[in-house]
Amino acid sequence: MSLGDSMTEVLYLPGSQVRGRYMRLDAATILKRFFFCERSLVISQSGWLGWIAPLEVKTTLPRFAWEDALTAHALRERIFELHFPSRLLEVGGDAAVVDVFDAAADAPSAEAYVVGLGRVLVPALQAAYEAYLAGVDEIADGPSRRFLRVAVEEKQAQVAELEILGGKMLAAAPHRGSEAEAWAANLGAALAAAGGVTLEPPAPAPKPSLPGARALSIADSPARDPAYHRCRFYWPDIVDPGFAYGEGLRLQLRTAVSHINEVWAVETAGAILFAFATELGWEFIYDAARWTYDESRHCRMGVQRLANWGYEPAEVPLGTYIYDSAAGQPPVFRLGMLYFFETKNIGKKNERARAFAEYGDNISQHDMEFDWADETIHAHFGNHWLRALHEARPATIPAPDALRARCSELVRATVASASDAERREINAISEDMVRKAERIARGDAHP
Ligand SMILES: [Fe+2]
Ligand SMILES: [Fe+2]
Repeated sequence: MSLGDSMTEVLYLPGSQVRGRYMRLDAATILKRFFFCERSLVISQSGWLGWIAPLEVKTTLPRFAWEDALTAHALRERIFELHFPSRLLEVGGDAAVVDVFDAAADAPSAEAYVVGLGRVLVPALQAAYEAYLAGVDEIADGPSRRFLRVAVEEKQAQVAELEILGGKMLAAAPHRGSEAEAWAANLGAALAAAGGVTLEPPAPAPKPSLPGARALSIADSPARDPAYHRCRFYWPDIVDPGFAYGEGLRLQLRTAVSHINEVWAVETAGAILFAFATELGWEFIYDAARWTYDESRHCRMGVQRLANWGYEPAEVPLGTYIYDSAAGQPPVFRLGMLYFFETKNIGKKNERARAFAEYGDNISQHDMEFDWADETIHAHFGNHWLRALHEARPATIPAPDALRARCSELVRATVASASDAERREINAISEDMVRKAERIARGDAHP
């Protein structure tokens, strides 16, 4: 080699290091696929809540949907960082795989939906995240690595819980077992046909058409756990203005019954997430997922307090009247019901928390204080999204004040329809609960 050659030869250091597997836009493309799958899970789990009877399942799926929404939110923010300055987020070439996730919503039964979720969709995302993490560069892509590691942990736990919940649901409805098994198998085959959720773009495929599919819609009347005492009006004061909300032991009991009866708020928050997901976009889905999860926690507060005092589910009334009042109305009425009726008593919550402190009832105080903190968030959600809808569609969405008045009228009409038999029924139930509470308080019955 002459001196002249070495001056013209172009030399480079080797660059084939394992860290460089995914370039910035490759990573963004993969994360975008994950985002749309998670988004689909949040919407379908929320839409199913009104159709799911077992209270345990109805109050667990909202946690999963909220976890999925947090992962989706982190994915979305990360995609924007990697795509900067573009804020464009479209399904595009990932349609084949996202279509399978969307098709899962149209399950023929709640059992089939839960089995498909636990056996096919959630494990597919877990495996895809594990594959991404196996090749992720923790230096360049550390932010993605952090939230995907959390997501893998959550997905693992979801799969285990869904296995148990699906098993219980099928044990309670064995006649729907073969349909649910076939649904999950067909869902798995459709996902495989699209190439699965992988780090590669899916092969284009027609929209899956799964045997037995039934388009998911908002439930007009909610499915309710048969273990509880099902009714429309869950305490005498609802149908009898002269019946006192109560103090002391009656207030402790009434508040716990109120909490478990926030089951209608769980179903309603899920319904509005499902109804307005496309129109209001991701920020709404993200807020509504938290809203639904919060209401599921409020419901569980009641479940737990009553169970710990020693009440059996059959002794506890589970009502439907506020949910029923929006039946047949456009979905914005459900948003109105949730906003107006859930935040109505926000001012009383701190007052009641103080009363419980005086009674030495730490757990009721604790639950009421945390509930209050959630409600202040919900007041903001309701105000913000009702206004957004009204501004976008002033001709079809009533202004908040008009909607509030109409929602109150609808609930008043439902309450006015209470029959004497219903009044007698809820009086008897509440008297039994109060008598039992007195025995427990005296130490005659063991919680
Ligand atoms: Fe609540
Ligand atoms: Fe609320």
